[in-house]
Amino acid sequence: MKITAETRAKADCEVQFAFEEEKFPHERGFEPLVKKAVSEGEFSGKEGQTVLLHSASGRLLLVGLGKEKDFRLDTITVAAGRAAVCLRDSGMKKIAYLSDGVCVKKSGGIPPYVASIAGGAIMALYRFGKYKTGEAADEMKKKEIEEIAVVVNESEKEHASKSLRNAEIMCYANSFARDIANESGKEGTPTAIAHRVSELAKQYGIKCTVLSEEECRKEGMNSFLSVAAGSKQPPKFIVLEYKHADAKDTICLVGKGITFDTGGISLKPSKEMDKMKHDKCGAAAVYGAMQAAAAFKLPLHVIGITPLTENMPGGNATKPGDIFTAASGKTIEVLNTDAEGRLVLADALNYALKYKPSAIIDLATLTGACVVALGSHATGMTTNNPELATKVKAAGEAVHERVWELPLWKEYYEMIKGDFADIKNIGSPDGEAGTLTAAAFLGNFVGETPWVHLDIAGTAYLYKPRGYFVQVGATGVGVRLLTKLLLDWKKK
Ligand code: BES
Ligand code: ZN
Ligand code: ZN
Repeated sequence: MKITAETRAKADCEVQFAFEEEKFPHERGFEPLVKKAVSEGEFSGKEGQTVLLHSASGRLLLVGLGKEKDFRLDTITVAAGRAAVCLRDSGMKKIAYLSDGVCVKKSGGIPPYVASIAGGAIMALYRFGKYKTGEAADEMKKKEIEEIAVVVNESEKEHASKSLRNAEIMCYANSFARDIANESGKEGTPTAIAHRVSELAKQYGIKCTVLSEEECRKEGMNSFLSVAAGSKQPPKFIVLEYKHADAKDTICLVGKGITFDTGGISLKPSKEMDKMKHDKCGAAAVYGAMQAAAAFKLPLHVIGITPLTENMPGGNATKPGDIFTAASGKTIEVLNTDAEGRLVLADALNYALKYKPSAIIDLATLTGACVVALGSHATGMTTNNPELATKVKAAGEAVHERVWELPLWKEYYEMIKGDFADIKNIGSPDGEAGTLTAAAFLGNFVGETPWVHLDIAGTAYLYKPRGYFVQVGATGVGVRLLTKLLLDWKKK
């Protein structure tokens, strides 16, 4: 799909945004039609409303933005996505978004305005349809938008083009993460993902090291391997390294990569267990962010660390009560094998310390408790460094991947002190403060390094389409947040 900034565009359909209670924009030839649609009550600018108008000069899709006072950074993104899907499904190939003065101003100028449009279109048009056959597959092949133009003034064209390229990098990286994260447990095994990721690394000039089970054992990663013990699929520990020649700062991104979480011997109930194929969304977000960092040629040293394994209840599986020595030397009582994310992350966070990073950010679909607390509207954040947390929060706001900080007091560290070993992998059997005892567990493995933990259990996937997430399943949450964070890294 080609996305360009044009001073004028020939298209199958033009898209015009309009606020509620606005004097509706009158595009050439459409004035009487717009008036009619408004007077007959078909269009009022309400959020989500769309009306397709036909005139002798072509087609115009009116898209409602809601009330101007309710404008948010993602208003245009959502509306642009909605328009793109609506026109794709009507069989259009080339569409052009018009630039309305009020929308541009509200968005903060042409660059953010066009970026919102491109981002909304790419994310909304995303499909995971590779397993469809027959009519559905034909339809999908036939209905594909080929070209998107955003209409701007000559003087704005250069800035607009650059901003479009940036949005493309970020949002295609998001699509890559969604592709990985939507794969089933059967196809998306640690081995298959390792192959796919080494291809990606080759393509982007990223160094990729895949540690085998044996190599992980030599590294002393018994905490990670305790999760893999019940599975026939061999685990893989992937380390990606992107380094710019002028890099000063090293940042480690760590992602939970459970390719399927059955709970292990502490088996999960069968209801919606299928969703646990998304338990690798943290790792997927790291791959997306690494791709974007390399594509942007960021002046940084970025390491992506993702432990990949299934969590299965096989004959060799870890049993509740088993004790392991993690790579850091700390001993861990595994009281619940379903609290496996923290076990794989313990060794991954410890591995990150080798690089003496200025920051570690980990992402994990870690706790059901976080879904209870924040639902699907915010990622839970905990930290040992308020300054880093402020940066992460700002990046999240900017791309509308919002995070909400939860406290990580020493009392939560107390809750996971072990009876037999140093620490235990759950706080209490009744799940009290589940998100925070999990975070405190991780905090045991980062030392003094500035660290932010993002619990994406509620935000990593959706099963009701929402906004520009039209395809249900993985959202790729974290990719745009991390990319924005890295893009702004030096800025105060
Ligand atoms: N992968 C799950 C967390 C999860 C739950 C993600 C719901 C997305 C949606 C994690 O491994 C898990 O099972 N956590 C347990 C921890 C408990 C046993 C302490 C949980 O949250 O119930
Ligand atoms: Zn689990
Ligand atoms: Zn899990």
